[in-house]
Parts: sequence; structure tokens; C-alpha cells
Amino acid sequence: MTHHLIITGSSRGIGRGLVDHFLKKEDCRVHGIARSPSDLSHERYTHHRFDLSELDKLEKEATVLLPDIEAGDAVTLVNNAGLLGDIGHLGKVAIKSFQKVMDVNVTAVAILTDAFISRYAGQKGRRVILNISSGAGKRPVDGWAAYCASKAAADMLSEVAAKECAMDENGIRVFAVAPGVVDTEMQTEIRSADKSQFSNLQRFLDLKAEGELSSIEAVAEKLARVMEGPERFEEVCLDVRKL
Ligand SMILES: NC(=O)c1ccc[n+]([C@@H]2O[C@H](COP(=O)([O-])OP(=O)(O)OC[C@H]3O[C@@H](n4cnc5c(N)ncnc54)[C@H](OP(=O)(O)O)[C@@H]3O)[C@@H](O)[C@H]2O)c1
Repeated sequence: MTHHLIITGSSRGIGRGLVDHFLKKEDCRVHGIARSPSDLSHERYTHHRFDLSELDKLEKEATVLLPDIEAGDAVTLVNNAGLLGDIGHLGKVAIKSFQKVMDVNVTAVAILTDAFISRYAGQKGRRVILNISSGAGKRPVDGWAAYCASKAAADMLSEVAAKECAMDENGIRVFAVAPGVVDTEMQTEIRSADKSQFSNLQRFLDLKAEGELSSIEAVAEKLARVMEGPERFEEVCLDVRKL
């Protein structure tokens, strides 16, 4: 039995952590998706350079990004790629970036989820969709209107997809997992925000200074528990810090 993983945002951060985690396991084949080329050369890794904000192209080519599997193989889609967008209060921030945040954080997730379900529904073997969520989808954070709205939408998309998969008895489990505060480039971007546009700036500076950020490796290990043992989790929306 092979475990196939399709991981978006595989070039760095949490996505890269997941790629490295699963490539250590002999039975895993990993398909990474990101705009950047990959520096990784591994017989069980395939890299797809793809801009997930190109939605028409994604709709046409989504099934090409999903691997052929044998009966009984496990397959997991990790919708991890995400962006914060411009940080700033509405009325003062460039609203232009709003669309791109929604495209990558929500619509691309929906397109890949749709393609995964139509491709693998009803097949034998473990099938999981794991969307990387955020606490920002559950509470308002000033300066992050697009990001908060996109993560709230992705949570509800996951809830609906999970409900439909259960109703249709197609065997696919869907989760939205918040990873906590993780030491990635996204956190570097957050710490470079303009203080007047983001009241939480000092909190994020302190978390970094006090070594409170989770490591990519630790988060990848916890996310893997959900992918490898979905039957142990009933809720759709999970938090890594409670796993
Ligand atoms: N870090 C945290 O503390 C934290 C907290 C809560 C939630 N999250 C969530 O965790 C996920 C990963 O975040 P991270 O911290 O690892 O971020 P990161 O270090 O900024 O990495 C983001 C990844 O997404 C990819 N990506 C961005 N735009 C893309 C596009 N248009 N097409 C294809 N790939 C794209 C990037 O690859 P390319 O640039 O090569 O395309 C990169 O691999 C995100 O969904 C984020 O919202 C992170």
C-alpha cells in the first residue's frame, strides 16, 4: 500500500515541513505544488510549479495534479498554500490584494477539494482532505480582514465538504486544522507590519523573542496524526495545540 500526498505550498514553511516528514517514510509518494521551483531531488517526490491564483487554469488542470492510485492506496490532499495579503485597516489598506487572498485561500481550495472528491470518491483505501486553517478564521484580527475572512470561509467550506462526504458515504474525510503560531516566513511578514495598521504587532514580536513559535517539524508531526488516523477525530475543525 502506498500513501500518496498532494501538498500545496510545498516550497517552504509548513508545506515543506510536511514534504520532509513524509519523504522519511518509505511507503509515501509526495506531489508538491508551489510557484517556486523545488530544490528537492528525491525519487518519491514530484514537483508541480503552479500558481494557484490562476483559477481558470487550475479548474482545467486540477485532475492532472492528482495522481493515479492503485486500489487500496491511501491518498491525502493538503491544502496548505496561503497568503496574508496586505496588512492594514480597511479604508487605509490597498483593497486590491483582497481578491488574491480569497482566490488562493478559498477558491483554489474549493477547486482542488472538488477535483479530489470527484476523482477518489467511493474508492477503497484511506482518503483525507486536510485544509490548513487558522485561529484568525474564528476571531477578528485588526489589519487582517482578507485573511480572517478567507480562513473563516475555508473552515465552512471544510464543514460542508465533510457533511456531504458523510451523506454520500464516499469514504472521504475532510478536516480544517489550525496549526498554531509557526516559525515560517509568514510570521516574518507579520512582524514587519506597520504598528499603526496592526495592534497585535508587539504580541507577535514577543512570541518570537521568547521562543514561543512552534517548529515546522513539530507541527508537521501533529498534522500527520490526523492524516494517518482520521478515524480518531470526529470534529472537522481541529487545533494542532489540542491534538
Ligand atoms: N505560520 C503560521 O504561524 C500560521 C498560522 C496559522 C495558519 N497558517 C497557515 O498555514 C499555511 C502555510 O503557511 P506558512 O506559514 O507555511 O506560510 P509561508 O511560509 O509563507 O509559505 C506559504 C506557501 O504557500 C505557497 N503559495 C503562496 N501563494 C501561492 C500561489 N499563488 N500558488 C501556489 N503556491 C502558493 C508558497 O509557495 P511559492 O511562494 O513558491 O508559490 C509557500 O510554499 C497557510 O495556509 C497559512 O495561512 C500559518
